[in-house]
Amino acid sequence: MVDVLLGLQWGDEGKGKIVDYLAAKYDLVARFQGGPNAGHTLYLGKKKYVLHTIPSGIFRTNVQNVIGNGVVIDPTILCAEIDQLSTSGIEFLSRLYIAKKAHLILPSHRFLDAVMEAAKGAGKIGSTLKGIGPTYTDKVARQGLRMGDVFLSDFQDRYNKLKATHLQMASAYPSVDFDLEGEEKTWMASIERLRKLQFIDSAYFINHAIKAGKKVLAEGAQGSMLDIDYGTYPFVTSSNTITSGVCNGLGIAPQKIGEVIGITKAYCTRVGSGPFPTELHGETGEEIRKAGGEFGATTGRPRRCGWIDLPQLKYTIMINGVTQLVMTKVDILDNFDEISAATAYETEKGITDELPFDMVTNCPKPVYKSYKGWKKDLTGVRNFGDFPSELQDYVQEMEDILETPFSIISVGPGREQLVLRPTTTA
Ligand code: GDP
Ligand code: IMO
Ligand code: MG
Repeated sequence: MVDVLLGLQWGDEGKGKIVDYLAAKYDLVARFQGGPNAGHTLYLGKKKYVLHTIPSGIFRTNVQNVIGNGVVIDPTILCAEIDQLSTSGIEFLSRLYIAKKAHLILPSHRFLDAVMEAAKGAGKIGSTLKGIGPTYTDKVARQGLRMGDVFLSDFQDRYNKLKATHLQMASAYPSVDFDLEGEEKTWMASIERLRKLQFIDSAYFINHAIKAGKKVLAEGAQGSMLDIDYGTYPFVTSSNTITSGVCNGLGIAPQKIGEVIGITKAYCTRVGSGPFPTELHGETGEEIRKAGGEFGATTGRPRRCGWIDLPQLKYTIMINGVTQLVMTKVDILDNFDEISAATAYETEKGITDELPFDMVTNCPKPVYKSYKGWKKDLTGVRNFGDFPSELQDYVQEMEDILETPFSIISVGPGREQLVLRPTTTA
């Protein structure tokens, strides 16, 4: 079976840390979508690692790691990640497998991303500028290049043709600074290095593993509210970040999906533009950002902060078929006298707990419920029974509202800084 762990908000929920923890119970961890727009942080002792393309299972020495066909790969970034990990003494290349059907991010995709974002002006998406949108666009337009294509004798010709198309498209936009030639050199050198790695047909590889009784964990990137179909369009990423993306991105059938573990912060963040109903613009938002160190793991940009949004979570639990929940960064709220949660939205048509079609021009107004803060340092707590009663009651109430149990509550960035609940099945 394939269990899934994915973000229920706008990304950065703490997926890297939880996948690293859970990976000990799996044989294989696989990324199924997204690309180096992701930044998954985890700590081994005091050492911090941020992974962009490589799955967060690599730190568990018995775990195989797959970059699935739904992922888009920038060879330059992948090589830099490999180098960084190797310098830290992490041995993982013999356990890393790359899908031949994964699409390649060309330097000219990044150039296109940059010119197109710049042309949007104030309406920009706030893209990470890693070339994600243009690469998925080429995939759907049936003109992209795939990882396995690097072994074709006419790869260079195909590359030149696609690059020429990009340059022609880019000429319709005002230009931006971009060292295409320099980037291209590093990119080609990286392709040469990657040729030595292990390439697979991820559909056969994963299905054979399942048949052999191996346990697979699919690692989501971004968050469900950034999904191309179900997120806050057009302020989204260009892939299916939700459970259905696992089937497309790895080549497995829906009935092979087991547990779906949905992860949420105890509050909410968003990086980049787009609607965010519970965003806090004043002092409280700043306090959360400071306490939570809410700055992008990929771009360093300050993350927008706000309260947890229960209608939003109900929606993403529904579209993902979430069977258990993880709440991270609960410790960040340790010093608050009072915390809030949006329980509904106030709209022109009355109170609702459903997300409206158009959140962009008509962002719904949240209805809040306040909870007494616990005012206790949680970072050392390891048992649910040792949580202050305010937090125990709060979690119980969230479970009732969301109709889904919390299996893990995370109280710090460290691998072991978490509280397991009896419901944990993963
Ligand atoms: P991801 O993209 O979902 O993997 O999340 P990011 O790595 O972008 O951002 C999550 C940040 O929160 C990272 O800096 C983690 O080290 C940190 N983190 C994860 N869980 C916890 C937690 O429970 N408490 C605290 N204080 N930090 C956490
Ligand atoms: P992880 O996996 C948070 C956001 C960008 C932008 C929008 C589109 O670390 O949770 P893109 O580069 O995909 O064209 O950007 O999506 N975004 C993320 N926000 N976490 C991420 O990944 C993100 N990946 C993309 O900020 O608003
Ligand atoms: Mg992140």
